[in-house]
Amino acid sequence: MDNNVLKMLQDQVNQEIYSAYLYMSMSSWFSDNSYQGFEKWMRVQVQEELAHAAYFMNYIQDRNQSLTFEAIAKPNSEWKNPLNIFEVSYTHECGITKSITDIFVASRNIGDIKSETFLQWFISEQIEEEKTVSDIIGRLKIAGDSSNALLMLDKEYGTKIFTMAANITF
Ligand SMILES: [Fe+2]
Ligand SMILES: [Fe+2]
Repeated sequence: MDNNVLKMLQDQVNQEIYSAYLYMSMSSWFSDNSYQGFEKWMRVQVQEELAHAAYFMNYIQDRNQSLTFEAIAKPNSEWKNPLNIFEVSYTHECGITKSITDIFVASRNIGDIKSETFLQWFISEQIEEEKTVSDIIGRLKIAGDSSNALLMLDKEYGTKIFTMAANITF
């Protein structure tokens, strides 16, 4: 397997675990601030990110390569309000989309069809992730400072459950 593509895939495992860690920090803020629905939503997001990490790990191992273990970056833990959290989450997901797209392009450039095929699922997943968060941002902007509207959204998003295609869990 090409060393550069392998390194990018190994780094992506770290990125997915960092995503989980970031969302843990966000879920903790929601817990501290009595948004139990968004707390639950973020906890489900943590599970999804760990499943993404597992999916990358499995692929690297299925290709007979080893995993690497670097430090996980420290996530921010100070947030202004729910809108601020989801805006940071959106920017973060766009960065993840970019890093996955970069691995896809590198795989394509060297004719690594296996990696290209594997990464297709993640590219669709990122479109979904960006859309979901962007919808929440839109609705939080409508809610503004209205406690009633914020509590209604909190209740609604608390119904999210963990599902992932291919039944991958960490
Ligand atoms: Fe992810
Ligand atoms: Fe994500």
